[in-house]
Amino acid sequence: VGKYGADIVITNAYLIYKDDDLKQKAIDEGLHKLINFDGPVMTDSGSFQLSVYGDVDITNSEVIEFQDLIGTDIGTSLDIPTAPFVEREKAEADLEITIERAKEAVKIKKENNIEMLLNSVVQGSTFMDLRQRCASELSQLDADLYPIGAVVPLMESYHYKELVDVVMNSIMYLPDNVPRHLMGAGHPMIFALAVAMGCDMFDSAAYILYAEDDRLLSTRGTFKLENLQEMPCSCEVCSKYTPDDLRAMPKKQRRDLIAQHNLHVSFAELRLIRQAIYEGSLMELVEERCRAHPALLDAVRQLASYAEDLEKY
Ligand code: GUN
Ligand code: ZN
Repeated sequence: VGKYGADIVITNAYLIYKDDDLKQKAIDEGLHKLINFDGPVMTDSGSFQLSVYGDVDITNSEVIEFQDLIGTDIGTSLDIPTAPFVEREKAEADLEITIERAKEAVKIKKENNIEMLLNSVVQGSTFMDLRQRCASELSQLDADLYPIGAVVPLMESYHYKELVDVVMNSIMYLPDNVPRHLMGAGHPMIFALAVAMGCDMFDSAAYILYAEDDRLLSTRGTFKLENLQEMPCSCEVCSKYTPDDLRAMPKKQRRDLIAQHNLHVSFAELRLIRQAIYEGSLMELVEERCRAHPALLDAVRQLASYAEDLEKY
């Protein structure tokens, strides 16, 4: 982490809770010792597992109390990441639960004088009025951070235009002075667009998941190792090895090197975005990045329809 310059890390409290050894270690020594990081640590609650497996063995109050117990700096309630394009009834029913749990988390925090900061995740599937309502209601709670949830399926299926609608309709109803975290966003191709919309934080396992699959991240898209004649950048890995070198390596060694490249390009893009903000040229960078894929071009055009709000928020 020091090497790449991350100021904060995220891990998953539910996965620690589910593993007897990790759980005991986290309780005895604390989360920071467990993952060997003494900066701020955020934890997720098992909501993502809930969305993938349909069920988790923990309640909202249990996961809040567990996160505090192990010394998490920023904890998350057990929101329901409702998938995009579901029936409205489902999105509404899920949203009621998400909002109830966010309220319960704040109540538990207040009643027990818990110092841990709280994430309240905006849900509402692809219904813009539900995103707006969720963001407005959560804003009343004085939570400490407002992540935007359930965007991974949109990004994985190239629904970037809908991503713009979902993020803008959430952000317009959130307070201006509380960080917004685009949960699960890990492809550097979309970072500039997300920052232009007002997102402050990202987290993702993309760098390692893509590496497992021999895929290299780039701001221009994703490269399959099998198709590469040349390495795509000038990071340590790309300078030292050729695609043939990597292809000839044992799987694990190759995965770790590709993961290093993936992290390098992700952090390099964040630096470039920060510099563009200082220079006042962020929108030019967004336009450039959105040439990478036709669906991203649609997204940046969709963003133009929010021009007034974009200036404001
Ligand atoms: N990680 C990726 N998406 C989500 C989400 O919607 N909620 C939570 N809690 N974590 C996530
Ligand atoms: Zn590289």
